[in-house]
Amino acid sequence: MEKQIVTPKRSLTTETEKLLNNQVGKEASSSSAYLSMASWCEKSGYANAAEFLYRHSDEERMHMLKLFRYINDAGGHALQPEIKNIQHEYKSLRDVFEQVLEHEIRVTQSINEIVDHCFTIKDFATFQFLQWYVTEQREEETLARRALELFDIIGEDGVGLWTIDQELGKLESFVQEGGGASQA
Ligand code: FEO
Repeated sequence: MEKQIVTPKRSLTTETEKLLNNQVGKEASSSSAYLSMASWCEKSGYANAAEFLYRHSDEERMHMLKLFRYINDAGGHALQPEIKNIQHEYKSLRDVFEQVLEHEIRVTQSINEIVDHCFTIKDFATFQFLQWYVTEQREEETLARRALELFDIIGEDGVGLWTIDQELGKLESFVQEGGGASQA
């Protein structure tokens, strides 16, 4: 493990700062990926899926900023990440939501690794700060899983895709009202 450097002016270690900045990059990538997906859905005629993804792009930017401000508040230096390799084309609406779920699972794993690191080095302030992300990831994974289930339940033939798009528009309120509680 890299040497932990704690300066007299702060308790945030250089390693934790690096991990948090890395997570800033992941949240920014999520925001960009969802914006790109929203655009593809909109131009493909999936208006509700597009709105869902526009909102999630904004949420990911909020996740990024929350980390960004924490790093600076804790005495570190938050770094504006570079975003590369944005995908613009998708095979299908299902492909979009499969990628959303895969993406969220990777973010959960990344958050868990930072939480584990903070616990190990006894940085309980950052550990506590990250609990918000632990809860948020559980909700986001549930939402993405529910979205994908629509494809299997409704089917994609005939008016299936139109119906899936309609249901995607209602999904957030369904999960917020406890429809995803069994996964929590
Ligand atoms: Fe902020 Fe959906 O990860």
